[in-house]
Amino acid sequence: MLLSTVKRFLGFSLSITLLEAAQIPLAAHSTTYNLENDGNSWDINVAPGENTTGHLVFETVNSFMQHWPNTRYRNGHSIVPAVVPPGTVLYHGRRDANTPTSPEWLATDPEHSYMFCRGQSVESGCWQLTVTTVRPLKLLYFDGSAAAKMPDGAMDSQDILAYGKVVPEKYRGERERINNLCEWAKDLNVDGFVRMEMDFEIMLCDFTQGVIVEAINLRARARGGPGPGGPGRGPGGPEGPGRHLDKTFPSAKLPPHHDNSDSHSIDFSALPNSGGFATFPSWHRYYPGDTRIQLDLTRLISFYDTNLVPSLVVERHGQERIKHRLLGISSEDLRTVVQKIEELTEVSDPGSGIDWATLIRLIVKRYSERLEMVQYILNSTNPSNSASENKALAENVQVQLIAMLQPYMLSTVKPPQNPATSTEWVTPMYKLCATTYTNYINTSSLRPRLTPSENLILDGIHTTTREICRVVTGMWVHGIMAGLEPDYYKPSATDDSDIDLVALLDSWKEHIFGLMKWLDWSVWLKCRPACGFEVFIAFFSEWVMFLTSLLDWQEMCYLPMWPFGRGSDENHESDDPQPRCVRRMAPFDDHSF
Ligand SMILES: *[C@@H]1O[C@H](CO)[C@@H](O)[C@H](O)[C@H]1NC(C)=O
Ligand SMILES: *[C@@H]1O[C@H](CO)[C@@H](O)[C@H](O)[C@H]1NC(C)=O
Ligand SMILES: *[C@@H]1O[C@H](CO)[C@@H](O)[C@H](O)[C@H]1NC(C)=O
Repeated sequence: MLLSTVKRFLGFSLSITLLEAAQIPLAAHSTTYNLENDGNSWDINVAPGENTTGHLVFETVNSFMQHWPNTRYRNGHSIVPAVVPPGTVLYHGRRDANTPTSPEWLATDPEHSYMFCRGQSVESGCWQLTVTTVRPLKLLYFDGSAAAKMPDGAMDSQDILAYGKVVPEKYRGERERINNLCEWAKDLNVDGFVRMEMDFEIMLCDFTQGVIVEAINLRARARGGPGPGGPGRGPGGPEGPGRHLDKTFPSAKLPPHHDNSDSHSIDFSALPNSGGFATFPSWHRYYPGDTRIQLDLTRLISFYDTNLVPSLVVERHGQERIKHRLLGISSEDLRTVVQKIEELTEVSDPGSGIDWATLIRLIVKRYSERLEMVQYILNSTNPSNSASENKALAENVQVQLIAMLQPYMLSTVKPPQNPATSTEWVTPMYKLCATTYTNYINTSSLRPRLTPSENLILDGIHTTTREICRVVTGMWVHGIMAGLEPDYYKPSATDDSDIDLVALLDSWKEHIFGLMKWLDWSVWLKCRPACGFEVFIAFFSEWVMFLTSLLDWQEMCYLPMWPFGRGSDENHESDDPQPRCVRRMAPFDDHSF
């Protein structure tokens, strides 16, 4: 009886043994089920459908303006109106002191723009413009690594606005792209665009609108080889005569805005002291990311919105998230999306006032470490464990499950005498857990004030919490049935001897791995084991430089990104960047990825 309950939770037929069930790759997320069509099914055996995207909306929103998650998933699926507040200082490296008369790229951090600081000679220095906003700049943010000059999806969402279609072969056509984007934006309430590569950058359409510009002559560093500001470099910077009419690069390994005359890799000597990873901005890695660019989530567009962009459902079918892109979008959907973005740039509907980013973050905080802990415990099970070791592991897991579910454990929820045939008794708990953050919003007078974008986010939150609650509640029930909480439920004597904790641990393991793979939260994307040293060092004096030279062995966790070891070989299109520890002080090009 006990085993059949367990099997039912697993969703497999009664004729297979638990152990077999545990070895079957998780089927938990492939059952036909569409949340939007069937909000009334509260059976813990019913998993979300394979084409569900709510969890992807949830995690993409949770990742906005953060470097780390958008380095892994570089094919952006969102376009979001954003504002840069007045008084924000931005940077533009170039070869003269002139204010650009055509669209150009701005770095959010001077470490990035200094790579483009050029001059005629070391003696005459190089030029960096400080560009300060004097009013709110209105931008559109492309998520992912939209400035990675790669043909396999990173630039898809821009292409839709720049070319009216996805044009992979134009991935190097940066001058044409920025001109087209600004041409499209001309009659709209849009000053420019935001995207990410090594750091965030702004594509500003008109340097006479909304900003003041000051040219600063910086010390150009003498270098052994060709490099920014160095002698014999020739014209450099994105606006150099002739060369930059079409900002193309002979090698994808080159950074943007980079003069491509004589080098096939970034001039790392442009970085102070060749400090490599230690000196490049990496402080927008995690939540909340770069907050100088403020997104308006009430007006976001997501290509994971299956109502807005139904044609991509079939394109994504059977594809890992890393392969998702916008190639294959129907021309009808494309027109709808562009029209929608054009409308949204004009809208001033304030929306509901709900702080979606905080709500999403709360849910991630609430579950991420606990789920990770459960996974860690279950991943340490071993076939040679004794029965008592297994018992201790199982009890540990049960404690974690209870901690997650405590706020939803209604006093009326109790397993019946003969629970083997049904898990219905746990439904009120599952339901409370799954709707706790969304029920009020969904059913109150707030609901009509939600914009379509907010409804999409609400659905993402609901889909995500619902699935977490389904799996965690199911695992908890499973533990109860195995007799882990004898005060609450005691399996009958005959069942007792049947209880197979190995099978319980195996099926739990399948479930936790399945859930975490489905959620795929970037907070779990880290170096395992952790790297030697995780704090950045500031170079503010010779003394510190001396000290840090002693600390050459220090490590940091790093995700391969364009142009460092990514995109230099176009055959590597499909690879999935994974974090690894690298030596902090080594120059970038010392690392072979
Ligand atoms: C909102 O409520 C409706 C009606 O009760 C339900 O069908 C739907 O699933 C709910 N949506 C969310 C996101 O909670
Ligand atoms: C998911 O989408 C694919 C492609 O459109 C379709 O063939 C499949 O039946 C869908 N699955 C479900 C469960 O709706
Ligand atoms: C699970 O354990 C294996 C073997 O020890 C290890 O390689 C793997 O990284 C672990 N997975 C997680 C998610 O901890």
